[in-house]
Amino acid sequence: MRIKNGIDLIEISRIKKSYDTFGDRLLNRIYDESEINVFLKKSLVAKAPFLAKNFAAKEAVSKVLGTGFTNGIRPKDIVIKRRYGGPEVELRGKSAEFAKKIGLIYISLSMSDTNYNATAVATGIFES
Ligand SMILES: CC(C)(COP(=O)(O)OP(=O)(O)OC[C@H]1O[C@@H](n2cnc3c(N)ncnc32)[C@H](O)[C@@H]1OP(=O)(O)O)[C@@H](O)C(=O)NCCC(=O)NCCS
Repeated sequence: MRIKNGIDLIEISRIKKSYDTFGDRLLNRIYDESEINVFLKKSLVAKAPFLAKNFAAKEAVSKVLGTGFTNGIRPKDIVIKRRYGGPEVELRGKSAEFAKKIGLIYISLSMSDTNYNATAVATGIFES
């Protein structure tokens, strides 16, 4: 068994600015439909931190994949699910295909934020 970490830290104001500028275009480019549905139900103050934490999580997972957002690995295909007991990651499309190819069998995710920053750490477990 092999493990690999990915970490990301971002300013919430950066994501807020993008959302204020691009609105639905940003949502549809970066986030999966299930994430957008959760976002829409959030209170106004919780909206930008939610987007920022999920984006940090997507970047952290892209580092576990070792690709960043290149070669068809899209933020939208790295889906963050809020579950009782903590967040979970679901991979779709090319991200799922690539994960399979490199033997990535599980990703553990943790996220946090302050008034200013959002961060995420992803730990991938690989077979063999
Ligand atoms: C890998 C990636 C996610 C790095 O993200 P970033 O926010 O630009 O940079 P960060 O400061 O978070 O991370 C940089 C560190 O990640 C690590 N890193 C770089 N490429 C990596 C890769 N392919 N896999 C794993 N880790 C990587 C390095 O340690 C690097 O630090 P170093 O240059 O001092 O060694 C980046 O390549 C990427 O794809 N960014 C997407 C940005 C983007 O597309 N934004 C618009 C929204 S679609």
